[in-house]
Amino acid sequence: MSDDKATGLIHHPYKAPGGFQAVAPGVHKASTVIFESTAALKTRQWKDKSGYTYGLHGTPTTFTLEERLATLEGGLQTLLAPSGLSALSLVNMGLLRAGDEVLLPDNVYAPNKDFVGVELAHWGITHRFYDPLDAVALAALITPQTRLLWLEAAGSVTLEFPDLLGLMRVARQHPRLITALDNTWGAGLAFNAFDLGLPLKGDSRGVDLTVHALTKYPSGGGDVLMGSVTTRDEHLHLQLKLTHMRLGLGVGANDAELVLRGLPSMPLRYAAHDASARRVAQWWSNRAEVSRVLHPALPGSPGHAHWRELCQRAGGLVSVVFDAKRYGAEQVDAFVDALQLFKIGYSWGGPMSLVMPYAVQGMRRFGFLAAEPEGTLVRFAIGLEDTDDLLADLDQALSQAC
Ligand SMILES: Cc1ncc(COP(=O)(O)O)c(C=O)c1O
Repeated sequence: MSDDKATGLIHHPYKAPGGFQAVAPGVHKASTVIFESTAALKTRQWKDKSGYTYGLHGTPTTFTLEERLATLEGGLQTLLAPSGLSALSLVNMGLLRAGDEVLLPDNVYAPNKDFVGVELAHWGITHRFYDPLDAVALAALITPQTRLLWLEAAGSVTLEFPDLLGLMRVARQHPRLITALDNTWGAGLAFNAFDLGLPLKGDSRGVDLTVHALTKYPSGGGDVLMGSVTTRDEHLHLQLKLTHMRLGLGVGANDAELVLRGLPSMPLRYAAHDASARRVAQWWSNRAEVSRVLHPALPGSPGHAHWRELCQRAGGLVSVVFDAKRYGAEQVDAFVDALQLFKIGYSWGGPMSLVMPYAVQGMRRFGFLAAEPEGTLVRFAIGLEDTDDLLADLDQALSQAC
């Protein structure tokens, strides 16, 4: 070797001793993975976790995160995607073909609605919406073309908890129909999506797959974007993995590390968000400014009975609908602007409480918001601040603006 340092620094002989152990799993970064021989190159498998081939197909860090997420959600296999939305799109692209129809709940995450309505429409895939509280109406919508049924429990803005068991019982009568739950709100903690007590289908007593925006509770910091798709059926997993590979949906090791760091504290954080959100929901239910308080654990909130069938926990989201006869959009905006601790911003699941106003008009096709299509809904994502401080903030903003 020449005296120049460059080659020696790249091909350095030192190998750190093995056996290092620490609380945190290692952060392995790679595009290129090194093969020790051409024989290894030709025989190495990338479709499972038996070895490593290329950064996009997995590293020890991403495999570890996938396994922990599968455990969290009650599944067997997990794929990682660069955002929750890309995980939703992966499912749509991986499973739907021209001529298929997909059914979306009225409360579906709006960008999923856009993806299906715009991108999938270009490819000859049709969609219709259904009322998540009406399993009988769903039964009438399913045709031989219906391939995918999206579910969301609870809706992330309007917080109605669907008749998940009723909808799933209807779906189970159509073996070709794949059921996909956006499990971000429940996060694998509020209920077990793969074990809803239904008769076994393959390896699942519940849905066929879940999508999780890890951006929310698993990360817990408001600083990472990532998503996952979890299954219990090996064939379904492989089908999605092939699409995942063709799309090149890799995630960075540093982001995976942040989610791995968030997971151990997630059950405690979820419980804290839940307890605080329930107090906030209760507080709003005694306020005259609002005509509706939406929170699955609140009696009278849409789908409360369905929530009780499956869950004890409820996450950190609360929405209210301001009395449309007394408060116009400008006044509600003034209330939102007057808040000090609640910051205006999308997303949820982090330490800081967030607020977001939505015009009710055009928001829903079914249910009470379709029947009362006026006014402003405000969603609060309850963070980890002291609840008394949050209530004081809401109180002072109402006094200023309403
Ligand atoms: C219910 C739900 N699903 C999916 C997503 C998408 O997650 P991401 O922001 O990571 O794309 C969000 C984000 O707000 C969401 O609320």
